[in-house]
Amino acid sequence: MADTSPIVLIFGAGPNIGKHVAQSFAAKGYQIALASRTDRRDTDSTSDNTIHIPTDLSKPELIADVFAQVEQRLGAYPSVVVYNGALRIPDDKDDPLGKGKFSFDTYNKKLAVNHLSVLQALHHAVLGFRTLPASASKTFIFTGNILNSSTRPGVMSFGIQKAATAYAIRYLAEQKPYEKEGITFYYTDERSPTGDAVYLDINGPAAGPEYVRLAERKDQGPWLHTYIKGQGYKDFGGDIKQ
Ligand SMILES: NC(=O)c1ccc[n+]([C@@H]2O[C@H](COP(=O)([O-])OP(=O)(O)OC[C@H]3O[C@@H](n4cnc5c(N)ncnc54)[C@H](OP(=O)(O)O)[C@@H]3O)[C@@H](O)[C@H]2O)c1
Repeated sequence: MADTSPIVLIFGAGPNIGKHVAQSFAAKGYQIALASRTDRRDTDSTSDNTIHIPTDLSKPELIADVFAQVEQRLGAYPSVVVYNGALRIPDDKDDPLGKGKFSFDTYNKKLAVNHLSVLQALHHAVLGFRTLPASASKTFIFTGNILNSSTRPGVMSFGIQKAATAYAIRYLAEQKPYEKEGITFYYTDERSPTGDAVYLDINGPAAGPEYVRLAERKDQGPWLHTYIKGQGYKDFGGDIKQ
């Protein structure tokens, strides 16, 4: 008999956030679909209910096939979609638009991973959510950072692209085109207790329960889900530290 447990699909399933989010959802009885270039299930085992789908997020046209494979292999579309993949190639801090410094090809590749594939994932997530029972969680979570609300040196293009995706999530959460269908959208951003970015200290184990809480919430919470490790959601408002 087909497993009827809910499914979480994680794009950009790496050893930090992806692994720990998978473990937290597995503990809640979810089946897990990990989509990334590398299959890490041997070293980062989550549960027997885990499949890996190879994909390259720099190719947005591959996203539809990832959803199709989830449906074929696990018997249903995902109830929770997490987009955690990111491509951060720094720009020249002092001359981001200079000759030999700015590459449109590089910008486009980053744009594909940080924004265009997210739009495709949003599109296919909504189509899939529509096939699920009314009682199912229907949640889309994008792993963001502080750059949608604050600038930092050397990341102009990364910031443009995170901000573009933040706008999509904000639009969907605030304009509520899918509210009646029970679909919710979040941009998560782990912060330090002072409100600054956590940079390389981004904490996978803290993200796991945070993402599960968002998926279990019935109503749309604040789209900008800033949180502190071990403390949970905190609204920093305009109080952004540089
Ligand atoms: N709040 C903050 O201050 C803060 C700080 C740091 C990071 N972040 C955010 O946290 C997220 C990632 O964190 P993390 O610690 O989970 O990183 P991670 O462990 O490196 O996981 C990201 C995974 O994405 C996958 N990926 C990257 N490019 C891909 C591509 N082209 N196609 C398919 N998969 C791809 C990689 O797997 P493969 O190589 O196998 O494909 C990688 O393992 C990013 O969204 C980042 O912006 C936020």
